Amino acid sequence: MTDVSLTILVEARDDGPAIERLHERTFGPGRYAKTAYRLREQVAHHLELSFTARIGTLLVGSVRLSPVRIGESQALLLGPLTVEPPFRERGVGQALIERALAEARTAGHRLVILVGDEPYYGKCGFKRIPPGRVTMPGPIDPARLLVAELVEGAFDGVSGSILPDGDDAVR
Ligand SMILES: CC(C)(COP(=O)(O)OP(=O)(O)OC[C@H]1O[C@@H](n2cnc3c(N)ncnc32)[C@H](O)[C@@H]1OP(=O)(O)O)[C@@H](O)C(=O)NCCC(=O)NCCS
Repeated sequence: MTDVSLTILVEARDDGPAIERLHERTFGPGRYAKTAYRLREQVAHHLELSFTARIGTLLVGSVRLSPVRIGESQALLLGPLTVEPPFRERGVGQALIERALAEARTAGHRLVILVGDEPYYGKCGFKRIPPGRVTMPGPIDPARLLVAELVEGAFDGVSGSILPDGDDAVR
């Protein structure tokens, strides 16, 4: 990121309404029908592993991580990732992902999954999950189901249903 005024901050509780408006503008009401959204609505995201991007005091982007399980293994679900249209293509999205992954690794997490475009998220280490190895609780395009290992080999032997991990949620 070349814009020196960009800051990435841990999401604060009172950022919620501004982030919700950003999601509404970006994804519209169709977001409620998406499988990843329905998974997320069952569990609170980790506030301390969710970040906002600001240019000056203006909130221009957001990323959240939520606790899930893949079979017996703990993991994090990344998303939504959103950047305000006038501030796109300036590295804000990648900066948000990199910060979230770094903090998750520091906090001892091992795996992050998401539903998204592999050409974009591949730049941050996400790879396609082989078809059939995990199942989401609803329809998704399997080519968009991606995983990043925060610890080498963390995805080895992991399989099963992806479900919200309520016990691990920060509320
Ligand atoms: C996707 C999004 C978060 C990217 O944010 P951003 O701050 O513009 O991204 P960055 O500046 O970090 O990266 C831009 C680069 O990624 C590329 N890119 C952006 N979206 C992409 C996509 N869906 N697939 C592949 N590449 C993509 C751009 O072409 C650009 O490439 P370049 O670096 O070679 O020029 C933003 O476009 C957005 O909010 N989109 C709407 C919401 C959305 O789709 N969220 C993701 C849900 S899976």
